[in-house]
Amino acid sequence: MAAMDHAHPCDAPVTIIVDGRPIQVRANMTIAAALMCAEIPCHISVRGEPRAPLCGMGVCFECAATVDGEPLRRTCQMLCRNGMEVATE
Ligand code: FES
Repeated sequence: MAAMDHAHPCDAPVTIIVDGRPIQVRANMTIAAALMCAEIPCHISVRGEPRAPLCGMGVCFECAATVDGEPLRRTCQMLCRNGMEVATE
């Protein structure tokens, strides 16, 4: 039996756009996880440091990014959807 026979529909790949670049990820990933897998920081601090998720539970805002035009979204709390646009700047 092939491995794909057990694939869950939520594991289907979707494409999100990060800073204008398409990235293929699994639909059930958080945006924060997708950014980490792609080695893209969520945002750059005011001191110029790349920031990445810290708590992973919606408390610290280290994962904040602009999602579909809304700034300061906690990407660790949002699942990837096809066509979502994420800006990390
Ligand atoms: S990683 Fe802390 S709020 Fe998202």
